[in-house]
Amino acid sequence: MNRMLTRRSALGSLGALFTSGFSPELLALGLPRDGFAADAPELAPLLGLDGQGLDGAAVIEGRLPAALRGRYFRNGPGLMQRAGQRYRHWFDGDGLVQSWTLHDGRVSHKARFVQTTKFRAEQDAGRFLLPAFGTAIKPERPVRGPDSVNAANTSVLMQGDHLYALWEGGSAYELDPATLATRGVKTWSPELRGMPFSAHPKVEPDGTVWNFGTANGRLAVYQLDADGSVRRHALLDVGAPAMLHDFAVSQHHLVFLLAPITLDIAAVRAGTSMLDAMRWAGEQPTRVLVVDKADFTRQRIFEMPAAHVFHFGNAWDDGRLLRLDYVQSTPLPEFNAAAQQIMRGERSTRDVSTPRVLEVDLQTGVLRVASRDEAVEFPVVDPRVVAQRHRFVWYPTAVDTGARWGFNGLMRLDIDSGARERFSFGNDVVVEEHVLVPRPGSTREGEGWLVGMGYDVRRQRSFLSVFDAMRLAAGPLARAWLPYWVPYGFHGRFYAA
Ligand SMILES: [Fe+2]
Repeated sequence: MNRMLTRRSALGSLGALFTSGFSPELLALGLPRDGFAADAPELAPLLGLDGQGLDGAAVIEGRLPAALRGRYFRNGPGLMQRAGQRYRHWFDGDGLVQSWTLHDGRVSHKARFVQTTKFRAEQDAGRFLLPAFGTAIKPERPVRGPDSVNAANTSVLMQGDHLYALWEGGSAYELDPATLATRGVKTWSPELRGMPFSAHPKVEPDGTVWNFGTANGRLAVYQLDADGSVRRHALLDVGAPAMLHDFAVSQHHLVFLLAPITLDIAAVRAGTSMLDAMRWAGEQPTRVLVVDKADFTRQRIFEMPAAHVFHFGNAWDDGRLLRLDYVQSTPLPEFNAAAQQIMRGERSTRDVSTPRVLEVDLQTGVLRVASRDEAVEFPVVDPRVVAQRHRFVWYPTAVDTGARWGFNGLMRLDIDSGARERFSFGNDVVVEEHVLVPRPGSTREGEGWLVGMGYDVRRQRSFLSVFDAMRLAAGPLARAWLPYWVPYGFHGRFYAA
């Protein structure tokens, strides 16, 4: 293991740290270098790592439920700078996949960078060699397609003994779920080689996986069986926007919100980043594309006022009424400005995303949107209700954070009644996505635990928190503390053992 880890692990137990105060040496190790985020310590994990992996045993505070066993995988941008050059956008960093193992009351953690061809070449060179999504870097290696610049940094999916690191613009990267060692680019079938496979596949309770990918305005749609074999796929000419991050699946439909985002090809040719070449046409509508799951050629398009959406909770329909929930972001330019600010270690207050529920009357074509004003992101639902009628959505949320960046709490929203339940960690914690893990043997929606990560700004350590998903306000049942911090990630999935 590398030098930094050896030093970290030689520093003694975290329990001793809490009882005796911070060791100056340990504190120094956790502190960002070069004064990054000096005025906004909650942004410190965005400094990123140097390309090394992490291994640690967690110290458990509280009572970890004995029946909560398995592996929780997460992915996110982990490396942000090389040789004095720093990425400009949060989405640019190389994928760092984490694995939390919960077994017999013990919790261990591991993180490894996905060994993409880009990462390996840049790690060898000690500097960036290829452009990133939001940072224009003159290529020093051939760019033959999206996978030449694949950052594999957004989410994960596991099927059998195959763990995938996912990235919206390119192929899935296969990893060994036990060691997180990279196996290579995944090709679902020969004719799908190199076709983007988005970071937001939907997994129905029977294991059926739906996903999409966009390329040059076209929309690839995938239906996979639980064993990973391709059941159906299609390429739809729908005028897909330059960026499409997520979608929703109901009993009968695939639903896409196609935002008015175009790509300025001249700007791309002139060498700007993909992100800087995207144009937001807010005067144009967002198109609601509804595709029949049984027959991809049966498509309907509705229109709604321009909306920029990254994430969906879930969708259901009864053949006549289609209902879905999502989180509406600020328009793309404001979102990107905020994502660039935080990468400079500066707070941003412009980026506020809020819950929505959209109803589409499939007979009359009338759309209705209900809005709420809580600051949230990363919606999740109980995996047992994916593509079925659901009632609850869980989100990280901001509760009285003032000028501080990020979420500090969790919220459960009952989308039928509008009732909400919240918990706040206070202002020294940043809360990341939490996923719902059903309690073994239970059947009711929401029966289980909410599991996710957070970062404690004062302790400069990351933790795993576990809540009773139906009793958030009671606070975490347990937290598992790492002896180090981990860069903020995006998405994860829990696989019970
Ligand atoms: Fe996402």
